[in-house]
Parts: sequence; structure tokens; C-alpha cells
Amino acid sequence: MKIDPKWKELNSLSDNTGQGKLSIVVPSEINNIKDIDKSQKYVYKKLKQQGNLVRRARMYREVSCLKSLKHPNIISVIDTNVEKYEDLDCKLFFVTPYIEGKNLDEFIKLSEDLSLDQIINSFVKLLDTIAYCHEENIIHRDIKPDNIMCFNNDINNLILIDFGLSFNQDEQNITPTSEHLGNRFLYLPELQNGNKTDKRSDITQLCGILFFMLTKKYPVNLQNEKDEMPHQRKDTKDYFAKMFKNNQLDKIYKIFDQAFQININERYQTIDSLKLDVENILNNQDNVNTSLEQIEIKLNQNRYLKSSKIIAEFKTIHEEISQYIMFFIDSFKEKSSVLAWIQTGYNQDFQLLQIQNTIGVKNQFDNKEIRVKYLIKYIGNEMIIQLTSDEQSREVLRCKLDDYNQHKSQMFEIIKEYYIEKINNIL
Ligand SMILES: Nc1ncnc2c1ncn2[C@@H]1O[C@H](COP(=O)(O)OP(=O)(O)O)[C@@H](O)[C@H]1O
Ligand SMILES: [Mg+2]
Repeated sequence: MKIDPKWKELNSLSDNTGQGKLSIVVPSEINNIKDIDKSQKYVYKKLKQQGNLVRRARMYREVSCLKSLKHPNIISVIDTNVEKYEDLDCKLFFVTPYIEGKNLDEFIKLSEDLSLDQIINSFVKLLDTIAYCHEENIIHRDIKPDNIMCFNNDINNLILIDFGLSFNQDEQNITPTSEHLGNRFLYLPELQNGNKTDKRSDITQLCGILFFMLTKKYPVNLQNEKDEMPHQRKDTKDYFAKMFKNNQLDKIYKIFDQAFQININERYQTIDSLKLDVENILNNQDNVNTSLEQIEIKLNQNRYLKSSKIIAEFKTIHEEISQYIMFFIDSFKEKSSVLAWIQTGYNQDFQLLQIQNTIGVKNQFDNKEIRVKYLIKYIGNEMIIQLTSDEQSREVLRCKLDDYNQHKSQMFEIIKEYYIEKINNIL
């Protein structure tokens, strides 16, 4: 390709179907552009149809838009001759830095392990970049994945490259193009008549980018022949259901419900409102994580840990004792079913470190009964088990918790004697 002598072509950038012919270049020996880095590669974009006045004007517009924008996430113009767009002998071109990495289209299609956090954070940065363009009154009109580069294949460093359809609202001398605006990525009805330049179309295309980042699919159109919106198609719904939790899914659906309305007045009207909703997808998730974590941290406080461990052991001991007593009382039934056990008043107290329960015996013939309360408590570093009935208490065990098994058979003997004496009184 014949190019400006300030530049030396290394190779062409393949697969370009757009307005320009792209080559990777380096500065030639005679290149004396101020601050040029001769060790870097650049991209030379040469207009394909040099004789086409509309195309010439458009490249002029592309470069003036790019030149009026100074932003780390927007490609800069290093060299150009587009100011001579009216001079048909002049072969129009412009040069930008070469961005190492894939474009977003290739990057997303090949990516496997992007998290929702990464996608949203990267997308929010892209929103900020477009918000900056809009503040400068520049509307991009062609936001799609292959017009965004992933610098160093870092999803967090997206760079807008192709402003070929962009439009500066301040510049009324160049009539907006009447050429078909739209693409395989997302067809917007309002861009078809050519005259409309509306920031809200950029916002809708941005939502298309979010959709693509989440699903790896193009939204294509706002509604298909079955009146389905992009997020209502079966394959997308299945994918969403698999990928996201319910509380996130609601929010994602709600965003696309609004984003892909046919009527532009019902879509997102400002980048700020879209940004709020997008950030909110993560907010809630964070809250859930934080509060669960907080609860876990609190539950792990020493005082809770210690008492719940002791109460858990007391519960096991309590069950063993209850079963022993009830089994013992049941053994009389073989002789007569006059006696029955009654159980009331189970209570556990984490603060006092105690469990108490009452197991009584009833003579069902003449309604006499005894009630024995037993208390398992922790004092200092010892466990104490006490039986109480008729306001008289008797200690049946006092030992370290760890030594319980060693002492329990002796304790059961004492409990048994205690009950025998009490039962004797009600017969
Ligand atoms: N500065 C650049 N650095 C690296 N790759 C680029 C650069 N500019 C363009 N490309 C690659 O070339 C493709 C087409 O470039 P683009 O500027 O979008 O032109 P058009 O869409 O008009 O053909 C991009 O999708 C990207 O993959
Ligand atoms: Mg492009």
C-alpha cells in the first residue's frame, strides 16, 4: 500500500471491511513528528474510496472528533492530513498508536473465566469513557465490540478506537450521513433515517455491549420476529439462569427490559441512571456476602464459641441421663403399668451455662406424683449435676467435663437409688 513517506508499512491489518484500509506501520527515518516514539508500532488508516466526497468528509469528521477528545481510554491521533479533505489529490489517512491485544469481540468470544465482577467493573469504566464523549458533545453511534480494543488483553483497559460514524453536535456545517447506520451487532431503528443524532442511541449500544459481555451473543435487534427482546430468547434465558443468582438475575433482566425498548423515550435516558442500575447488580451481592461474613465473625467470638461448645456437650449428657431415667421407669411396666414418667421444663441457658429438665413419675392409680429436676451446670472449670425434688437438692456428679465418661456409671447408680426412694413414696 502506498503510504505517506513519514511512515513505513510493516504489514496490513487483515479482515477489515470498513471505510479504511489499515496497516501496521513504524515511523520512517524522515519522520520528525514531535515526541514520536520510534520503537513503537502504529496503525495507519487510509481511506478506501478516496474519490468519495461523503467518505472524505466522514474521515475528516472522525479525526476531528478524535482530536477533540483527550482520554486514556480513547485512541489518540498521531498524524493525519484530513484537514485537506476538500483537495481530491490528497490521499487521506490518519495514524494512531497500535494497541497490543485483541478487540473486545475476539476477547469475549475466547474468554472463559470472566467473573460478573470483572465484567461489571470493566463495563462501568466504558460507561465513564462514553460519558466523557457526551460531555464533549460527541456521539459515537457505532459502539460495538470490534470498535473497542482490550489493551494487553486486559478487560479493565478498554480503548475506543473507531469513531468513523461519530458525530459532533457542535459542528453543524457537515450534514450527518444518510448512509445506513447499523450493524450486525445491534440494529437501532432510530439510526436508520440518518438524521438522528442522539446520545440515547449510544446508551442503548452500550447496553448491547453489556449483553454481549454477559452472554457472548450479539443482541442483533431490539425485538426479533417473535417479538422477543434479546434477553427473552430461550437460549439467553437458560444461560442467565445457569450463570446468575436470583437476586442478580432480577436486576439484570430489569436493566435489559428498559435498555432494549423500541421507543427511545422508554429506554435509559442518561448514562448515570444506567450506571446506577449496573453497579447495583454487585452492590446487593456484596451486602449479602458482607452480612453473612459479619455474622460468622461474630459467631466466632470466643464467648459464643466456648458456651456453645459446652452447651452442646451438656445436651448429649442430658439426653443420656433422660434416657437412662425413662428407661429405668419403663422397666417397672413389665410388672404393672400403673407408673408412668412425665417430662417437663427443659431449658438451656447459654449465659449461665446450664441445662435443666424435670423428669417425674406418676402413680396413675391414685394420681400421686414426684417431680425431680436435674440441673447440669458449669462452675469455674467443673461440671456439676444436681437433682432436686421437694426443694431438697442432691449433687450426683462434680468433675471436669473431660472426665465425665469416667464417672458416669457411678452417677447413674446414685440417680437410680434416688428415684427408687422417691417412687417408693408414691406407691
Ligand atoms: N490502533 C489499533 N491497534 C490495534 N488494532 C487495531 C487498531 N485500530 C484498528 N484495529 C483492529 O482493526 C479492526 C478494524 O479497525 P476499525 O478502526 O474499527 O476500522 P473499520 O471498522 O472502519 O474497518 C479493529 O476491530 C481492530 O481489531
Ligand atoms: Mg470498526
